[in-house]
Amino acid sequence: MSKEIVVSGIRSTGYLHLGNYFGAIQNYVLMQDNYDCFFFVADYHSLTTHPKPTELKQNVFRVAAENIASGLDPEKVALYAQSDVPETAELYLILNMLAYMGELEKVPTFKDKVRQQPDNVNAGLLTYPVLMAADILLHKAVKVPVGKDQEQHLEMARNFASRFNARYGDFFPEPQVFRFNHEAVKIMSLDGEGKMSKSENINATIYLSDEDDVIRKKIMKAKTDSGPTEPNSVMPEYIQNLFLLMSLCSKPETVESFRSNFNNCNIRYGDMKKQLAEDMATFVAPIREHAAELQKDEEKLRKILKAGAEKARESASKTIEGARKLIGINYY
Ligand code: TYM
Repeated sequence: MSKEIVVSGIRSTGYLHLGNYFGAIQNYVLMQDNYDCFFFVADYHSLTTHPKPTELKQNVFRVAAENIASGLDPEKVALYAQSDVPETAELYLILNMLAYMGELEKVPTFKDKVRQQPDNVNAGLLTYPVLMAADILLHKAVKVPVGKDQEQHLEMARNFASRFNARYGDFFPEPQVFRFNHEAVKIMSLDGEGKMSKSENINATIYLSDEDDVIRKKIMKAKTDSGPTEPNSVMPEYIQNLFLLMSLCSKPETVESFRSNFNNCNIRYGDMKKQLAEDMATFVAPIREHAAELQKDEEKLRKILKAGAEKARESASKTIEGARKLIGINYY
């Protein structure tokens, strides 16, 4: 029986962080043995913010290296740069004809961008979910491992697929968000202001490339308060986030002991942060070191990305050929 198809991508807009790791990459690694996986560096998507041409390659190679260092095996999955699969752009164009201005303007991530960068509200930002749908539908994926922040984009990909199918005949499966055995993980920024992100709140985000000392400093500065005064209080979101991080990288008994201290109102956040900082540094160090090693071997990364692109193009060209036929672009 053929394996189910999985697609996911990460934008090359900065260093990868714990949100990318626990929200996405950890699932990729768990899926790589049992699914037909296409994982890519979303460099077309990164162009919405006009990165320097001289920095693009380095950004793409770094994200690829960080994925591999996190456990992704390029022998098992197709790991490629989005722009190495130009069929993406053709499907994006086709799907744009099925996407409505009104629905695109309502997307919360678009509205956020309009607020954040009012001087650069380009059409690429508006049609960002269409490009994302093209990435997914290009391989007829059925499962898409992503963090919670991408769920609405997935819903739009399903809408575009079903609109295409209704107009031209059954062709695209409707892709679903997928996570391995657990709820959606959303890692908040350590200052309690929004989610960890590649480009915002840099001092409150833990990157996979952070040195041990940097991790310690950032965690020791994480937002806390004077602690609960009532037993079994509801945890504020920023404290929940520290417990979540601890549950992801510390021993279960360590988490339990701090949780019971919280519930009994005798928690010392300084101690908790010290423990978390040590466990987090231990967790991140091998990924950081492996990624740095890989980035020195440009030739190896180039080969991996080329092989990944070849596999992705094979699948993409079949889809494009089928889509063209159904649309009627089939003249000779
Ligand atoms: P990007 O690059 O912002 O994030 C990559 C992945 O990391 C997840 N993520 C998080 N998860 C938990 N907590 C956080 N703080 C956190 N921050 C990021 C994201 O949910 C995502 O899974 N549009 C996508 C890239 C993309 C894509 C695609 C994904 C382009 N085409 C097709 C899937 C399928 C993005 O910007 O992800």
